[in-house]
Amino acid sequence: MVLTDTHTHLYLEEFNEDREEVVNNAIEKGVQYMLLPNIDSSTTEAMMKMVRTYAGHCFPFMGLHPGSVREDYEDELKMVEQWLDKEKFYAIGEIGIDLYWDKTWQKQQEKAFAYQIGLAKELKLPIVIHMRDSFDEVYRIVKQEASPDLRGVFHCFTGSAGQADKVIDVGFKIGLGGVLTFKNSKLDQSIKQVNLKHIILETDSPYLTPHPYRGKRNQSAYVFYVAQKLAEVKGLSVDEIADITTRNANELFNFIPTDK
Ligand code: NI
Repeated sequence: MVLTDTHTHLYLEEFNEDREEVVNNAIEKGVQYMLLPNIDSSTTEAMMKMVRTYAGHCFPFMGLHPGSVREDYEDELKMVEQWLDKEKFYAIGEIGIDLYWDKTWQKQQEKAFAYQIGLAKELKLPIVIHMRDSFDEVYRIVKQEASPDLRGVFHCFTGSAGQADKVIDVGFKIGLGGVLTFKNSKLDQSIKQVNLKHIILETDSPYLTPHPYRGKRNQSAYVFYVAQKLAEVKGLSVDEIADITTRNANELFNFIPTDK
């Protein structure tokens, strides 16, 4: 079984004490691939260090997270571009709009989002979208920017069946994480009819820990519990879910060397 955690922040300080153990544990449990989305210029060095240490297992995305968009966002975007010039990245991410905590920077978030979509198109890279209380705002911009070159994932999807259809309509994938395992999320009903080819799996570690570890720190090994729940919803084995979702992830991000 080969699982892929398409969204994990293992470079954050929450893992400073036991990062190696966490990565090895994931690999042991079949999570061969861990894709690392950037947050902002304060996290990039730690992320790139992991990519060097765990080459072949950890792969980086470059972008400015909407939660880090403030008055200095244009400088941050310049740093994103500098990194894109000098290292290999597998996506632009994570980027998007977050209106959960406050809306002070909404205009700037929208600008940074559209700008980074432009970078993705130029570089022919997929995008990894973060949205929180902002599906309509995000979707409007994605629709505006739509082009055959623009692909990506709506990460941590928690929406309705109708929203899932809209994601698929623009040719994007649905990123499913721990919320799928939460008792009252109803997410299982939203995605029951969704063709598996549109779905990839993630943890968003250290956040959004799946049942039965809900409330504890999340880690990439736990993507297994998301796969298990999806297997139950779809009436398939966990092995089949692992294979299909890893194939989908690689189709989008192209991280598995072709000689494997
Ligand atoms: Ni994230």
